[in-house]
Amino acid sequence: MIDPQPTEGKSHKLWGGRFAGGPAPELDAVNRSLDVDFRLWPFDVQLSKAWAVALWNAGVLTLEESGELERGLDEVAHRLAGGITPEAGDEDVHTLIDRLLHNAVGGVASRLHTGRSRNDQVATATRLWTMNACARLDAMIRELQQVMITQAESLERDVMPAYTHLQRAQPVSGAHWMLSHFWPLERDRTRLAAASKAAAVLPLGSGAIAGSAFPVSRVFLKEALGFRAVSPNSIDAVGDRDFIAETLFALSMLGAHLSRLAEDLILFGSSEFGFVRYSDAFSTGSSMMPQKRNPDALELARGSGARMLGDLVALLGTIKGLPSGYNKDLQEDKRSLFDAVDGMTLLLPAVAGSLGTLSFNRERMKAAVTSSMMATDLADYLVRKRVTFREAHGAVGQLVQEAEGKGIEMTKLPFASFKAACPAFEEDAMQELLPYTSLSHRDVEGGTGPTSVRRQIEAAKTLLTPEAEITRGNEISRRS
Ligand code: ARG
Repeated sequence: MIDPQPTEGKSHKLWGGRFAGGPAPELDAVNRSLDVDFRLWPFDVQLSKAWAVALWNAGVLTLEESGELERGLDEVAHRLAGGITPEAGDEDVHTLIDRLLHNAVGGVASRLHTGRSRNDQVATATRLWTMNACARLDAMIRELQQVMITQAESLERDVMPAYTHLQRAQPVSGAHWMLSHFWPLERDRTRLAAASKAAAVLPLGSGAIAGSAFPVSRVFLKEALGFRAVSPNSIDAVGDRDFIAETLFALSMLGAHLSRLAEDLILFGSSEFGFVRYSDAFSTGSSMMPQKRNPDALELARGSGARMLGDLVALLGTIKGLPSGYNKDLQEDKRSLFDAVDGMTLLLPAVAGSLGTLSFNRERMKAAVTSSMMATDLADYLVRKRVTFREAHGAVGQLVQEAEGKGIEMTKLPFASFKAACPAFEEDAMQELLPYTSLSHRDVEGGTGPTSVRRQIEAAKTLLTPEAEITRGNEISRRS
């Protein structure tokens, strides 16, 4: 934001009649929120235009006055979009717009604030901004999900180890691993849609605390501004910031999910794993070590998760213990909200770009699947021959130990060792040590079997179709 110009003469204020002198500069400095809330202006203009119409409907303004205010607000929007330099006395975005409206239409501007307060105004503008932000973020998450589907399809026939305790556990399809990061994002989208729905309750008409004293149609305002419902209690409406907490929680979870994806990719890109190679466009170098190829975007994704979490905690701390109604503490809400949304707006495309452009080393992934990872499959083989799982577990454990002792793969053990471990072993048991056999046993729903994974990819694709948006409830946020 451009530095404010010094105010010439008396500053434009929405209050002050009852005070003999002006506020202390120290109060002005702490009270001023324009740097933070400036971005609310399109929504403040939008709701003010609807308010002008509502005041005409209520018989407070003539049609001419209402039309004049609407035209004036359009002019203000035009000036704001063109970039204006605020004055030092512009306390917040509402005051700024009011001043500009006076410049545009003169005295009639003084009629707009009838029956409303900045308390219901800021709550309404922030809700509109949040609904819009949720829709923007949703579109960005969807793009990342699309990248995941594309990568999953390319990895459908590749095997890699899945890890528990970061120890090689069992072989899985590369697509199965990739989509394990798709579903958390799907839940994030559901949470964001719910947060947007929570935001879509109209506070305008609540006035400062007790409700507007003029018979404005709140149903008209709700429809005009794209809200889902009208708030049922004016005291609650001006102090309710639950929707911000819900948005910040959704973003904290999203941050956690991005950080986990990033961590997988950072590990997989290390020479020790060597499963992925970052593209030049999404790698940074070292000022000292010429050989370095660093995944900075992914590391920032891992690190930034903490920021969203901090924003959530800051907001919860602000609202806890507040007396009912509006309190100035609530001005802090936007700082947290905007910070988290801004952070995500940078991260999501960077993560999508990093993931979409990296290449997988399929040979390395496959080579990391060692035969001991099929130990469970070998035990399951014995179970199919009616050996109890406990006995089978013991017998296979013996074979693992023997192979480890000799420093060889289980596939290299003589068949006699198998027979000695358990007489139920037949020659066909060796098939069980192939990763693809292991996968083929796992066509249970949600498993890594080839049919399951195909079904999973199709299900993921279906979720990105326009029809799925309606079920999700996103049609509300998309209207804004
Ligand atoms: N800038 C204020 C905020 O963001 C607007 C509401 C001011 N209301 C008031 N009663 N002073 O919360």
